[in-house]
Amino acid sequence: MTNQISASGTGRAALRAFVALVLSALCGLSALFGVSGANAQDVDLLINVDNRETVSLDGDWRTIVDPYEVGYYDYRWHPSQWGFFRDDTQRDKSQLIEYSFDRSPQLKVPGDWNTQRDDLYYYEGTVWYRKKFDFTKRSDERVFLYFGAANYDARVYLNGEQLGRHIGGFTPFDFEVTDKLQDGENSVVVKVDNKRYQDAVPTINTDWWNYGGLTRRVMLVRTPRTYVRDYMIQLDPRDPGKIKGWVQVAGDEPSRLVTVSIPDTGISTTVKTDDEGRANVVVDAPGLELWTPEHPRLYDVLIETAGHALIDQIGFRTITTKGHQILLNGEPVFLRGVCIHEEAPLRTGRACTVEDARTSLGWAKDMNGNFVRLAHYCHQEQMLREADREGILVWAEVPVYWTISWDNKDTYENARRQLGEMVTRDRNRACVILWSVANETPNSDARMKFLTGLIDTCRTLDPTRLVTAALEKSYQGDSTVVINDPLGDHLDVIGCNEYIGWYDGMPDKPARVRWQSTLDKPVIFSEFGGGALYGLHADDRTRWTEEFQADIYRNQVEMFREIDFLAGTCPWILMDFRSPRRTLPDIQDGWNRKGLISERGEKKEAFGIMRAFYGEKLREQE
Ligand code: GCU
Repeated sequence: MTNQISASGTGRAALRAFVALVLSALCGLSALFGVSGANAQDVDLLINVDNRETVSLDGDWRTIVDPYEVGYYDYRWHPSQWGFFRDDTQRDKSQLIEYSFDRSPQLKVPGDWNTQRDDLYYYEGTVWYRKKFDFTKRSDERVFLYFGAANYDARVYLNGEQLGRHIGGFTPFDFEVTDKLQDGENSVVVKVDNKRYQDAVPTINTDWWNYGGLTRRVMLVRTPRTYVRDYMIQLDPRDPGKIKGWVQVAGDEPSRLVTVSIPDTGISTTVKTDDEGRANVVVDAPGLELWTPEHPRLYDVLIETAGHALIDQIGFRTITTKGHQILLNGEPVFLRGVCIHEEAPLRTGRACTVEDARTSLGWAKDMNGNFVRLAHYCHQEQMLREADREGILVWAEVPVYWTISWDNKDTYENARRQLGEMVTRDRNRACVILWSVANETPNSDARMKFLTGLIDTCRTLDPTRLVTAALEKSYQGDSTVVINDPLGDHLDVIGCNEYIGWYDGMPDKPARVRWQSTLDKPVIFSEFGGGALYGLHADDRTRWTEEFQADIYRNQVEMFREIDFLAGTCPWILMDFRSPRRTLPDIQDGWNRKGLISERGEKKEAFGIMRAFYGEKLREQE
């Protein structure tokens, strides 16, 4: 049968539909891979900045709090092309200017503004940041202005010219500034607005503090004129004896020879990139020491082209599923997890340092953990680098949380871009085994379309990892619990949040329910637990005491032992965290108290219960 497309009436409609389908697919792919016509931030991201030549812009930045956004809109609310809050040098004494960076207070970058100044604790609005720096240009280089993240809506200006805008509070972005930098003094100005909106991602309603600002590191990244911009170097899950991936070169001469090698092993291959700078990589990789929690072997991987040699530290492993089991390197693994918000241990505020990452991951290991769920958004890159080094498996997620505007195209594009930025930044990190596209999202046709689109995007960007989401449970009768969310059919691993014993019944209820899974897929309890104020003690029927919380955990552990399809557990949550929803005086005071540890690092009684349970699971595995 020929696949001719006829021009008849019905054929014409079919032809139109077919052409529309092809065009949308090409737009989708082009948007994804930063090919011509795509938004400059659609996954076109400089990765592995820690192994590149950088100039840090961290430190003190001058700041102006601007709740009425007079620095951007005129009095008729017309936006300005360049922002009014430009630099304030070369002023004439007669000029009418009603602001001055030089005379304004400073904020530390990286860092949220809420915990740096009492007057900004609840602030949601715009803060203008300015940093002056000296720079000496080189003729043979490109320079990028790179942000680890800015929450939530950032407009960036360099020497008075708007470079662009980034929306999304937890993923990196960069702008090429090669031809915009000047020799000597430069001035970068950033308008950061953390107002919440229904159509945003996350939406207006969350259970965490809306920390605003330049919350992660800012730097200049220097590269040769032609440079290695992006790559994916991982084991082929279908053939673990091979490395399969690709490299992306950018700059003056994108089509060129690129060598990928692992000096410790003698593995090496040379490929020729196409006119777009891209080339696939497939090379036999015999005898690699596979990355595991017990032996997190990282190899130096060199990606070299004439004039540019980029090194990365990459672990090699496979992650697959078989029925109800998750297989790491072909072996069943039980995920002994804990959820983590990006609340800085001990000092509080948005976590943004490698010490913050080490403290949180150290506490997870103290619990005999081998897995963390980085809720509910993309965490700082140092967290993933440390988890790679420490051998801690990771569930990473985008803030598609609760009641997202499922029908809004811009909302979908926003979520897809944030997912793309997260996957692009971290798809060479062995520790990441799960990408999650949603948390506790009410089912509807629009939600299914939105989320299956994100799932497809995920699999296109990274065919080597598993896709999951945190779903909600439901009851059949009063004691049979099922997970029958239709999204489960599209996932590799089912995440399920359940608060039996806290929101659902009293602490002894978990021991009285029976679970059923309708899907032949691994299930992780991606949240469970209850609240307690550290140091509050009474009988175990008194809410908010450590005894009440511990009783929930004891009964939850009893319940886990009866569930044969359970592949992992993730208590909510490692440490107490700030949330404006949690206002109970003398107990919550603006904190969600479901931590197993207080924000001061004090371990609650329930911590010991999880530590003992995970110790058992660890011994079972040995
Ligand atoms: C939900 C939600 C969390 C929230 C938690 C709670 O499951 O996913 O973000 O903090 O419950 O109620 O504490």
